[in-house]
Amino acid sequence: MPEAKNNVKGTRDILPNETGGFIRIESVLRTIASLYSYHELRTPVLEYSDVFARGVGEGSDIVRKEMYTFLDKGERSVTMRPEFTAGIIRSVIQNKLYATNELPLKIFYSGPAFRYERPQLGRYRQFTQFGVESVGHNSVLNDFEVISMAYSMLYSLGLTSVKVKINSLGDNETRTKYREALKGYFLPHLDNMCPDCKQRYEINPLRILDCKVPEDHVLAIGAPKINDFLSETSKERFEALKSALDDAAIPYEVDDQLVRGLDYYSEVVFEFDYTSLKGKNYGALGGGGHYSNLMKELGGPDLPGVGFSFGIERLYDVLKDDELIKEDDDTLDIYMMPLGNEVRLYALEIANKLRLAGYSVDYCFDDVKLGNMFKRASKKRAKFAVIIGENEYNNHKLVVKDLAKEEQNEIEEDNIVCYFDAIFNQECKCKCSDDYCTDEQCK
Ligand code: HAM
Repeated sequence: MPEAKNNVKGTRDILPNETGGFIRIESVLRTIASLYSYHELRTPVLEYSDVFARGVGEGSDIVRKEMYTFLDKGERSVTMRPEFTAGIIRSVIQNKLYATNELPLKIFYSGPAFRYERPQLGRYRQFTQFGVESVGHNSVLNDFEVISMAYSMLYSLGLTSVKVKINSLGDNETRTKYREALKGYFLPHLDNMCPDCKQRYEINPLRILDCKVPEDHVLAIGAPKINDFLSETSKERFEALKSALDDAAIPYEVDDQLVRGLDYYSEVVFEFDYTSLKGKNYGALGGGGHYSNLMKELGGPDLPGVGFSFGIERLYDVLKDDELIKEDDDTLDIYMMPLGNEVRLYALEIANKLRLAGYSVDYCFDDVKLGNMFKRASKKRAKFAVIIGENEYNNHKLVVKDLAKEEQNEIEEDNIVCYFDAIFNQECKCKCSDDYCTDEQCK
């Protein structure tokens, strides 16, 4: 197998005609996060494995079987982050960000994450997450703000019919009682359950509800529901959240099967579900929830948090399916056409001068006929062509062709930037006195 010829299984190249879409998605998400006063925190891809074992939880599938973990040359166990939250909280604690900022501390992040999962539609072994964490405030309105921000992000990208699924996992008291109830329910069936579920039963029986093995899944559907175990405080909290979502007209449905795959959650958990117009479902576009014990678990103060992450590849794929994002349709300001070897360097210098002035300029490196150059300019969606032959070179006059209007002008080399500034309506920087210059100061 020619391994050097292929990308690693489960990874994905983002090709040049796709990167613009990825950047646009991220730019919308960043802009909205900033509007909500979130600031970016960049943590390393590598963390000590304990961050995730303690943070995401020994009982989670992620820690049990999906992490890229290895010993570094100093024999330390390190892991390529399978998600951001645990590493972000590690950094918040280590840098005491909770102590030097007003709470909640509002963080956003973006970058690659790695999980050794079975690759399938929407599921990669390296993928990109964009997410937020709001740390240090227990108000249910903080949970609400985070969910509504995520919803506006999706709405702003054009996804106006996203399904928000929510559930409450309750507080510690709720989950202790619920865990016992689940153990009682699953015990008589344990011998017939999959080996993973046998382990889950011991470490965290809540995870059995996530099992994809058909027999266990059917069993899980009949299991006791957490809603029946919610403490009074958790019930009130969940009701307050639902009423805030109602007031904000954010459509949601309560899904009592939603437990999420990471162990740190308590109280509300949520996911954003969407099927593209082509009928494809790439899996949840994002998900998150409230966590009460994560900070303490990682050695920090007893502060809660709430956050979510989106999968950027999934967002890109649904937006592409729904034609809300196109493959890159960049245009080019100017295509430079040197005619003959003598003028090549000169034409390249003019191209660079225009680039320095802020225009996108491409240059024909091949010695091809003028007609062919025009074809290339049109393929690149160039707005103008600058044609430089021997005459132009000798007289320092350049031929500029407006490719849409099919009009041609001869422009002094010294005025070429100013000429384009006038056309593109930019303030003239050269203070010339040319007719085509629109800068009042030049008149
Ligand atoms: P998660 O649900 O594991 O949550 O991942 C969040 C999102 O990342 C998913 O909804 C999906 O869009 C994307 N994603 C996850 N795994 C893959 C994969 N293998 N391939 C492609 N995309 C994937 C978390 O990671 C939590 N840290 C979210 C959170 C933040 N909770 C609180 N704060």
